[in-house]
Amino acid sequence: MSKYQHHLFVCINERPVAGRPSCAARGGREVLAAFAHELGQRGLDGRVGLTSTGCLGPCFDGPTCVVYPEGVWYAGLTPAAVTSIVSEHIEGNVPVVRHLFDWNPDDGD
Ligand code: FES
Repeated sequence: MSKYQHHLFVCINERPVAGRPSCAARGGREVLAAFAHELGQRGLDGRVGLTSTGCLGPCFDGPTCVVYPEGVWYAGLTPAAVTSIVSEHIEGNVPVVRHLFDWNPDDGD
């Protein structure tokens, strides 16, 4: 059993060459910092894991994150979206529909 109530994985992958986009170039580090700030402000940092990751797959829709144990995916994140996700999903246990990513691992995104 995990020590965390939720665990967030946030892509901050960076690509040095042009081509496929990367979450770092789209604000992934700012999104990660916003999650750390929100969790800390709300006293959740001991109950909610926050881990930066490499590419999660849906690069064209980044910045992305996935929340476990539910396996809920979010995309196109901004610091404002982070506030909603922490408030509504992490604290309220209701995924934020307007930021969801409809991930289909078979579509080869
Ligand atoms: S670079 Fe973030 S999902 Fe691929």
